[in-house]
Amino acid sequence: MIPLMKNAFHNELETRRALAEFILETPRLSMDVECFRFEAAFAEHQGCKDAVLFNSGGSANLALLQALKNLGRLSDEDLVGFSALTWSTNVMPILQLNMQPVPVDCDPHTLNCMSENLLERLRTTDLKCFFLTNVLGFCGDLDNIRSICEKRGIILIEDNCESLGTELPSGKTGNFGIAATFSFFVAHHMSTVEGGMVGTNDEELAEMLRIVRANGWDRNLNASQQLKLRSRHRIEGEFEAKYTFYDLGYNLRPTEIVGFLGNQQLKFLSSTVRARADIHTRLDTIARENLDLVPINHSHISVLSSFAFPVICETKAIRDRYVFQFAGAGVEIRPIIAGNMQRQPFYNRYVERMYDLPGADFLHDKGLYFGVYPELTETDLNVLGGCLRSYSLSKAA
Ligand SMILES: Cc1ncc(COP(=O)(O)O)c(C=O)c1O
Repeated sequence: MIPLMKNAFHNELETRRALAEFILETPRLSMDVECFRFEAAFAEHQGCKDAVLFNSGGSANLALLQALKNLGRLSDEDLVGFSALTWSTNVMPILQLNMQPVPVDCDPHTLNCMSENLLERLRTTDLKCFFLTNVLGFCGDLDNIRSICEKRGIILIEDNCESLGTELPSGKTGNFGIAATFSFFVAHHMSTVEGGMVGTNDEELAEMLRIVRANGWDRNLNASQQLKLRSRHRIEGEFEAKYTFYDLGYNLRPTEIVGFLGNQQLKFLSSTVRARADIHTRLDTIARENLDLVPINHSHISVLSSFAFPVICETKAIRDRYVFQFAGAGVEIRPIIAGNMQRQPFYNRYVERMYDLPGADFLHDKGLYFGVYPELTETDLNVLGGCLRSYSLSKAA
C-alpha cells in the first residue's frame, strides 16, 4: 500500500522522541513560549511581519474572517468570493459569519482561479472580498489577481493551506493579499498534527486575530496594545482587565505541543519542499507523455511545493479506469480536494444562488490525486510511474 502520507512528521522517530522528552520536561502545556517562538520563526520564513498560530487551518480561516468583521472591513451580507475548488472550512465561515459566498471558477489546466475567472465573475457580481485558495501547491496568476483586486477595492486574502513554500518570480504564495492562512495538519507540507497560522503584514489585523483567537480578551497583546484598549474602554486595574472581553472571539488556541512541533518541523521545511519538487518533476515527465491526461501548466511557478500529484483525465470514463489502475496497484488516491464546492450538501442547504462552474466540474468529475513526500521509496516511485502510464500500455506491460 502507498498511502497519501506515510509518517506524521519529517524525521519521524527523532521528532517523536524529542516530543516525548518535551512533554515530560515542560512546565506548561497550554499556549506559551514555544507557540510564540514558532510564530516568530514562521513569520521570518514566510517573509511577513507577523504570524498568529491557531489550532487548525480551518480555525485560522474562521478567525481571519471574524477579525475582518470585528474591524468593520467586512459586514453582514457582503459578497465574499471563494475558489470553487477548495476545502469546506474555507467556505463555511463565510456562511457562519452571515456573509454571502460567491464561487469563482478555476482553470483545469492550472487547477486554480485565474485572473480571467475572476474578471468573468466580476462581470455580473461585485465582490467585497476574495478568499482565494492556492490549490495543491499550484497557484494562479496571482500578480494579475492582486492588481484586479487593488483596482476594484476588493480585499484579497489567500487560503494557502495547500501551498506553503510555493513561489512565483514575484514572491511566495501567501504574500499576495492582506493575509493568508496555512494548515499544519498531517500530510500537509509540515505537520504539527493539528495546527494553522495566519500570516500578515497588517498590524491592526494581527492584533484583532489575537483577540479573536482567545475569547475576545487582550491577554496575548503587547503592553502598548493593551494600554490602548484598556484606556479606550476605561478599564483600570489588572484585576478587571484580565476578564474583560473586547470583541467577538472563540477559543482557537494551539497548545505548546503544536508550538514545539512547529519549531521542530520548520527546520526541515525547505529541504522537504525540494525533495517533493524533485519527485513531482520525475512523475510529471511520465504523466506528460500520457495522452489520457490533461497536462497541468505550472510554467509561471518558480518553486512548486507539492504534497500531492494531481491526475486529471480527459473524460470521466478514463478517470474511472485510472481509479481502478491506482487502487489495483495499492495506491491510496482521493478526489481533488472536495471537488466543486457548489455540489456539496451543506452548500445546497444554505445557498440559493448557483453559478455555472465548468472548470470546477471538470476537476470534480475527471480528477484524482495521490501523495508526494520524501519517504516514497524507489519501488514506490516505480509503481506510481507505472500507474501514470497510459492505462492500455500499463495493462499490456
Ligand atoms: C484549502 C484548505 N483550507 C483549509 C483547510 C483546513 O485545514 P485544517 O485541516 O488544518 O483545519 C484545508 C485542509 O486540508 C485545505 O485544504
